[in-house]
Amino acid sequence: MRLNKFLSACGVASRRKCDEIILSGQVSVNGKVVTELGVSVNEKKDVVAFDGKVVTLPKQFVYLKLNKPKGYACTKSDEKGRKTIFDLVESNVRLINVGRLDYDTEGLIFLTNDGEFANLVTHPKFHFEKEYQVTVEGEMKESELAVLRAGVVENGVRMPKAKVKFLSFDGKFTKVSVVIDEGQNHQVRRMFDCIGRSIRLLKRVRIGAVTLGGLTRGKTKPMTEEEIAFFKENV
Ligand code: URA
Repeated sequence: MRLNKFLSACGVASRRKCDEIILSGQVSVNGKVVTELGVSVNEKKDVVAFDGKVVTLPKQFVYLKLNKPKGYACTKSDEKGRKTIFDLVESNVRLINVGRLDYDTEGLIFLTNDGEFANLVTHPKFHFEKEYQVTVEGEMKESELAVLRAGVVENGVRMPKAKVKFLSFDGKFTKVSVVIDEGQNHQVRRMFDCIGRSIRLLKRVRIGAVTLGGLTRGKTKPMTEEEIAFFKENV
């Protein structure tokens, strides 16, 4: 098995991230640091270590949904010392986050020890939809929503189109639903910045066919077989 695939199957990170980890010299095979990509390992015989610790294939995969609150970073350890989503999870297996949400974004994110699952959910070629509820101060005009739908132009480059639906206006705040199928950095915030609207609250409510449902903020819940299968069957 290719080393990046093995590391990812061990739950170290998604396959692409594992390539970066290999290149940075954090991985050894049978005691020898490997920095080339494309090395194969025999998962029955070879001893693979990441950051000095031997990694093994999990006996059982774990898949969780988390309702991330604002004010938590999606990282194992935050360089600014901020709280991370892993402070919210009790697990005796080592988990990774599937994609990211900004520090100030809340809502649905998956955690797993199955790096291959993380890889397929986040891989750009599979275009799994991500739905956000966006709260903006003031009343948004239909013409603004039309610009977001068509793809805003940022520094001369057109951003991807989005499905955008008006949800409500309560006299002070407008709520809209935004569905994107790419995962560019800060994509939704950048879209709204481009039309001069700053986001008051950004919440992810769905990934593919999996919704946040009634999951309490800050809590986790195991994904169902059907929820997991949706991603595996749609690639
Ligand atoms: N788009 C953003 O701008 N931020 C997120 O956290 C997710 C999508």
